[in-house]
Amino acid sequence: MKRKKLKLKKQAYYIFAGIVGIFVAIILGVNFYNDLKYKESNEAKLITIGYTLEQAKKIEEKLTKEEVEKILNMEKNDNILSLIEEKYFLMKNLDNYLEYMKKESEKSLTEIIAIVNTHANNKWYSKTFETNIDLKEQMLVNKFYALNENYNPENLKTLSLQYAYGEPGTNKLIDYAYDKYMDLWEAANEAGYYLMVNSSYRDYESQKQTYEYCKAAKGERKADEIAAHVGHSEHQTGLVVDMTSKNAPEDFKFKESEEYKWLKENAHKYGFIERYPEGKTFITGYSPESWHWRYVGIDAATVIYNENITYDEYYAYYIEK
Ligand code: DAL
Ligand code: ZN
Repeated sequence: MKRKKLKLKKQAYYIFAGIVGIFVAIILGVNFYNDLKYKESNEAKLITIGYTLEQAKKIEEKLTKEEVEKILNMEKNDNILSLIEEKYFLMKNLDNYLEYMKKESEKSLTEIIAIVNTHANNKWYSKTFETNIDLKEQMLVNKFYALNENYNPENLKTLSLQYAYGEPGTNKLIDYAYDKYMDLWEAANEAGYYLMVNSSYRDYESQKQTYEYCKAAKGERKADEIAAHVGHSEHQTGLVVDMTSKNAPEDFKFKESEEYKWLKENAHKYGFIERYPEGKTFITGYSPESWHWRYVGIDAATVIYNENITYDEYYAYYIEK
């Protein structure tokens, strides 16, 4: 009886030990599997190439899986961490940002990103992309994006002499920009201002003449700061007005006028933006032109107003992206 009891006790002990053993094996197996899985994760791989856990987490938070995989194929670089924090960071431009940063170490990251996104790290006019005219009021024309001589906007509407200086019939806008300009004009008028257009649509040939005239009068360098090469002028889009005030005195400076102040605060509500603002020449390539306003549509104009960016930056980040 006693021996039987002892045998049973022994058996229970073996069963218990067996169960414990199975549990331990399961726990070890799960741990081993988790370790193996973690080693294959992008976080572990980022740590292996030198990033800290915190940095690895930041990279994974900011970038998509494919983008992280690109980072894994590059050497560890702390500049990447600063760049991905920037609002207008575009992964496709990462190599160019890093290269440009080496050359222009005194520039801020925000400048580096704006310059590279807009191609302005290249010499002006050294590359030419064809303007996508299907984008209509969102088409980009600048020192890198050009219209060809066959682009003639359809549905141009003439601004009457009530709204524009010059010979009758010379100032025109695309119909939808014309309509929005009329809304803007009325609102400005209600606020006590009388806006007049000095120049608007210019065809390929007349822009050629405008530039050549500037070059002959002021030399190439100065001409390039104020006038566009043929095909590269926004005036050819039919979406632009150069403005002044009615009965402005000889020495009138639009930049210092109440009209300009009003436009700065209100033009976006009608879809117009200041195209060449102060302090942005490094992106636009032009000296500030307080009189040159471009129709881009109300939504885009509102983003540009709120974010205080140029159209070149807007296009790179929100359209071309
Ligand atoms: N003045 C502007 C830049 C133009 O020529 O289009
Ligand atoms: Zn202009």
